Amino acid sequence: MKRLGFCAFFIAFSFVLLANSLLAQSDVMILDSMKGLPGKKRPPVPFPHNLHVEKGGSCKDCHHLYEKGENVLDESSLTEGNKEIFCSSCHGSKARLNLEQAYHGQCMGCHKKPLKEQKKAPPRYCGGCHIRK
Ligand code: HEC
Ligand code: HEC
Ligand code: HEC
Ligand code: HEC
Repeated sequence: MKRLGFCAFFIAFSFVLLANSLLAQSDVMILDSMKGLPGKKRPPVPFPHNLHVEKGGSCKDCHHLYEKGENVLDESSLTEGNKEIFCSSCHGSKARLNLEQAYHGQCMGCHKKPLKEQKKAPPRYCGGCHIRK
């Protein structure tokens, strides 16, 4: 009887772990390049990061560190809270590509590629990414 109780507890515990990992996978980042600044024109953009990773994207499709035109990024530097990997740390207002141009270039650049194998076309119009609540 004692043993059965332990089993039931163990099974319930596993479900909690499973639910947690499923939640983590549906994680959506909110991209807001103007957070706290005035003059925001469009609503912030919900970005399903994990979905993009699952779709077979390599980390380096989006994250980069250029040296002589080559992406030499060490993927082990891609850790949560590392400010050096934030787009804003390099694409400031004085960069050749400012933050808005960097995001648009990357997001739309890929979403506009011919999308043969894709069942669902990714958003390409303003309101498809800048979602009004
Ligand atoms: C389709 C593009 C894309 C792909 C592919 C991608 N990322 Fe990201 N990632 C982003 C964007 C955009 C951000 C937000 C950056 C910011 O806030 O400045 C981000 C943020 C992150 C962060 C920072 C999270 C935080 O808030 O501190 C980590 C860590 C990360 N990515 C790791 C990875 C890893 C590891 C891979 C490969 C398995 C990967 N990314 C693949 C676009 C991508
Ligand atoms: C460590 C600095 C750094 C970080 C972090 C960074 N970039 Fe860049 N990015 C550059 C440099 C340098 C270039 C090439 C020179 C230029 O065009 O300004 C570049 C080029 C680009 C380009 C032009 C196409 C290409 O890939 O070469 C896009 C689009 C872009 N970045 C978007 C992003 C996005 C989105 C993020 C965040 C996920 C990001 N960048 C993070 C430095 C950075
Ligand atoms: C390397 C290619 C690539 C890049 C870069 C990329 N995406 Fe996507 N995105 C895709 C693909 C492929 C899909 C379709 C996934 C599917 O089959 O549902 C998609 C789908 C989406 C969706 C719809 C998700 C859903 O639930 O239907 C959103 C929102 C999105 N992307 C936002 C962004 C944003 C914001 C950026 C830039 C920060 C970005 N994407 C950069 C390839 C990319
Ligand atoms: C594929 C996704 C995507 C599409 C499509 C898209 N954007 Fe964006 N845009 C972003 C992301 C990501 C950012 C950076 C996060 C933010 O600040 O909202 C951004 C930032 C901006 C900004 C700077 C921040 C602000 O709100 O002032 C403006 C302006 C903007 N977009 C306008 C537009 C317009 C106009 C269109 C349609 C022509 C459009 N965007 C289409 C993803 C997208």
